[in-house]
Amino acid sequence: MTTGGPLTSPWGGDRPFTAVVTGAAGGIGLALAEQLRGRGAELVLADVDEAGVHTAAERLGGAGVVVDVADPEAMERLAEQAAAARFVCLNAGIVGSSVGAPWEVPAAEWDRVFGVNVAGVVNGLRAFVPRLLAAAEPAHVLVTASLAGMTVFPGGGAYGPSKHAVAAVVAHTAMALEGTPVGISMICPALVATGMSPVGADPADAAREALSAVDDGVFAVVPPEWRAAVVDQASTVAHGGRPAPPAPTG
Ligand SMILES: NC(=O)c1ccc[n+]([C@@H]2O[C@H](COP(=O)([O-])OP(=O)(O)OC[C@H]3O[C@@H](n4cnc5c(N)ncnc54)[C@H](O)[C@@H]3O)[C@@H](O)[C@H]2O)c1
Repeated sequence: MTTGGPLTSPWGGDRPFTAVVTGAAGGIGLALAEQLRGRGAELVLADVDEAGVHTAAERLGGAGVVVDVADPEAMERLAEQAAAARFVCLNAGIVGSSVGAPWEVPAAEWDRVFGVNVAGVVNGLRAFVPRLLAAAEPAHVLVTASLAGMTVFPGGGAYGPSKHAVAAVVAHTAMALEGTPVGISMICPALVATGMSPVGADPADAAREALSAVDDGVFAVVPPEWRAAVVDQASTVAHGGRPAPPAPTG
């Protein structure tokens, strides 16, 4: 699905740009950072994993900052430090240890998963978007949501609900940013082989697809084999039916 016009791409010209990536110590975030570096970005890498973020920053040649995205003040400081940023990847996320039915998930885990996954994105938007709008230059925010935020799978603990909230926050933000030079889009991957999942797609492929989707003005990157399942479940519920576990096609 594409938005009305192409999303603003900060690397449209020859100008150097600064990119911030949260959750950059490993997985999809590290792959995004690597490929943004390849496109000429100055990197500001943020992660709660101190050793991991410094190793990544040394290897890729950027700044490594220890940040808990769930902390709004820490995200404000990150945005101040990365004032030149024109591409912001709000990618950090956690699954949590309880993946059962909603009532089986401890209250503290609901708080932490929503604190990192949802408030982490909101804190990033609150810290960066006003600065990006004030800069009045083409800029982009890329959010790592999940297929689990597009459709409902059995179990999933607090993770699936948190990613539905992330997808809604991104959609609201897209509408609110319409007509400004600041774009926003999201990736909604199925399994990717990272610290979060022992199996799945190569994070380098997920990152490549994410950045070329920004180039192409794609708002939401949903794996093609899951699109019909996403639509079917939404349609079932919209017509009064109960959701059934989704399955890929093809
Ligand atoms: N791996 C998958 O199958 C998959 C599928 C869909 C979506 N995602 C999403 O991709 C994103 C990246 O996850 P990944 O798969 O690369 O996993 P990962 O565990 O390899 O990487 C996540 C990174 O985020 C960091 N992080 C965790 N909590 C943080 C916090 N509070 N503040 C700052 N950094 C924090 C971790 O230290 C880690 O470096 C997440 O939002 C995740 O939900 C992953």
